Amino acid sequence: DGEVYKYYADGEWRASASGKTVAIVNPTTRQTQYRVQACTQEEVNKVMDAAKVAQKSWARTPLWKRAELLHKAAAILKEHKTPIAECLVKEIAKPAKDAVSEVVRSGDLVSYTAEEGVRILGEGKLLVSDSFPGNERNKYCLSSKVPLGVVLAIPPFNYPVNLAVSKIGPALIAGNSLVLKPPTQGAVAALHMVHCFHLAGFPKGLISCVTGKGSEIGDFLTMHPGVNCISFTGGDTGIAISKKAGMVPLQMELGGKDACIVLEDADLDLVAANIVKGGFSYSGQRCTAVKVVLIMEAVADSVVEKVNAKLAKLKVGPPEDDCDITPVVTESSANFIEGLVMDAKEKGATFCQEYRREGNLIWPLLLDHVRPDMRIAWEEPFGPVLPVIRINSVEEGIHHCNASNFGLQGCVFTRDINKAIMISDAMESGTVQINSAPARGPDHFPFQGLKDSGIGSQGITNSINMMTKVKSTVINLP
Ligand code: G3H
Repeated sequence: DGEVYKYYADGEWRASASGKTVAIVNPTTRQTQYRVQACTQEEVNKVMDAAKVAQKSWARTPLWKRAELLHKAAAILKEHKTPIAECLVKEIAKPAKDAVSEVVRSGDLVSYTAEEGVRILGEGKLLVSDSFPGNERNKYCLSSKVPLGVVLAIPPFNYPVNLAVSKIGPALIAGNSLVLKPPTQGAVAALHMVHCFHLAGFPKGLISCVTGKGSEIGDFLTMHPGVNCISFTGGDTGIAISKKAGMVPLQMELGGKDACIVLEDADLDLVAANIVKGGFSYSGQRCTAVKVVLIMEAVADSVVEKVNAKLAKLKVGPPEDDCDITPVVTESSANFIEGLVMDAKEKGATFCQEYRREGNLIWPLLLDHVRPDMRIAWEEPFGPVLPVIRINSVEEGIHHCNASNFGLQGCVFTRDINKAIMISDAMESGTVQINSAPARGPDHFPFQGLKDSGIGSQGITNSINMMTKVKSTVINLP
């Protein structure tokens, strides 16, 4: 009834005193695959205490040594790519190849973070007083970046390893300690990743990983007085967390409704390829997935035809077979997607394919002639279902994009670079891609959402900076 995994605290693997576990259901078989500990609030308190103690000496550990350990962890992580990828396949139904890529990308991310940290944290600033009116040159201000303390990292199910290390790496290189609360689906992959950090030899208590029910330890963690920073990626929960959290820096990456605006002069084959890749990879379960296509009427028929031809070639089935479209993460997610599809059906959308579902597996579906009164025009399906809205002017497309409460990424396809830049400027999204589908990477690029899509900016450099505070010492000359 599912292999049982321990949680990680104070440098060791422990069973929870609760005696309870949480089941991880394989999205493909819909059977319990693994079980993780249902940690208690008391156990969270202990982890927080240990994190606080470990951080003090870690902050005094030379930066180059911190970097050295991160490089070691990155190498071990890559060595363990096969078993970790297997967990991703079983827990979140990520296609086998993509699961391996997630782990390799994570190792690269950790190495890059170590290098970037050494560069940017090795620099400070010297200011002199006489540039401000009324001052003599008698004050010297030395400022540098110092750690925040304990960072709480909460990654989502779709990248349980990569979106964990994108928080762990920056936190550690900057001299913080780290408490990880992985998503339930993906928790075992995350624990295995933590094991790689354990093998690298980080000090006890510096990294811990608590698992359990959100209802028991979720608010308790995010409102814990021992937490000095929260880095969260996920859905609406992030909005609730930001309202409840204390006065600590927050980094939030929440949902998106990334628009793809297609102009008449675009390369239509490039458009179709990016709509399929952007909208359907990992079955649409990416915050940066293309979630609405806003296309000029004159080229709509042609693009819809090209997209349909490509969708017909996608392999649908289990992640073990490296299928393109795999079961979505939970039954409730599949039900939610179905609800959006049925709403669009009732309101008259054109179904380019027949709607088909078996268990959590939903076949790829393009919905044409979607109108603004349909839920799918605005809501995020997080599944392999993509709406097409035909537009008669660029302004109409920009208006739809900006009327969304999300603002993560967007993309525009045109051969006219001046137009593309003007559209990018007009789109209220954290990033706009010109002639390519939205994507977070390369992982050192800034990554941020506007409006309900988030707070702050990520990407390796921005995350390192965000997990530090400025400390100044002023030398006053007589
Ligand atoms: O799901 C949210 C991720 O940050 C998206 O990352 O663009 O690399 O798939 P990705």
